[in-house]
Amino acid sequence: MSIINYQLNNMLLNIKNLHVSIGGKEILKGLNLGVNEGEIHAIMGPNGTGKSTLAAAITGREGYEITEGEIWYKGKNIVGMSPEDRANEGIFLSFQYPVEIPGVSIQNFMRTAVNSKREYQGLPPMSTVDFMKMMKEKQAMVEITEKLQNRFVNVGYSGGEKKKNEIFQMAMLEPSLAILDETDSGLDIDALRIVAHGVNQLHNAENAFVVITHYQRLLDYIVPDFVHVMYDGRIVKTGGKNLALELEEKGYEWIKEL
Ligand SMILES: Nc1ncnc2c1ncn2[C@@H]1O[C@H](COP(=O)(O)OP(=O)(O)O)[C@@H](O)[C@H]1O
Ligand SMILES: [Mg+2]
Repeated sequence: MSIINYQLNNMLLNIKNLHVSIGGKEILKGLNLGVNEGEIHAIMGPNGTGKSTLAAAITGREGYEITEGEIWYKGKNIVGMSPEDRANEGIFLSFQYPVEIPGVSIQNFMRTAVNSKREYQGLPPMSTVDFMKMMKEKQAMVEITEKLQNRFVNVGYSGGEKKKNEIFQMAMLEPSLAILDETDSGLDIDALRIVAHGVNQLHNAENAFVVITHYQRLLDYIVPDFVHVMYDGRIVKTGGKNLALELEEKGYEWIKEL
């Protein structure tokens, strides 16, 4: 194996020259991003710049056509892998706008998700006792009340409840790569703290987080190792956590001059 291949394969996520079109219109225009286990990356940038498109391309959402480039994850180029298999391989996406699922309780929803991942890994379904224990532990971890668990998925939730519930789902699925897309939008400061607390609790040396955010606010609570600025379908600048502060101060107009 050449050194270049080794480096590609050795990172948790390595995106090379990614071009993505939606309905024939090019949105991502040669994006590069490398993420190692144990790292937190923030992606910032103005609206319409392709941040959610990047998240969709990584998770394999339908309708996002990869016209060029590669997405290496755990040593495999996952372009062409189904969204279900990507999820089973440990990729988790928190949606900017979570869907409501009437008639399905959180508990049943999570049980199906956890067991389908276990099946993929060749493991038997979890026993009811173990599953209930896990629910309890993870709920406590992300500070969610038990009452929420018997409700239907996202139906009638406040913005804050939806986001907290997503953090809970993330805790249950124990992803290797978690992508949070604008998890801070519409959250009051208490909900924001709970989301950040959940992320900080779940973060460890074996997993990585990609936090997509328009504002610097969330990064007061989740401290990134790297901040990337996206503009017009590419990452145009990468820095440490101070880059977020610089962006906040100078505004997005500044990056057009880079
Ligand atoms: N489903 C879609 N169909 C057509 N255009 C889309 C679709 N989703 C996003 N776009 C366009 O792609 C561009 C990038 O969108 P998006 O990735 O959502 O940006 P961001 O998350 O940075 O705000 C925008 O110009 C948007 O209008
Ligand atoms: Mg978006």
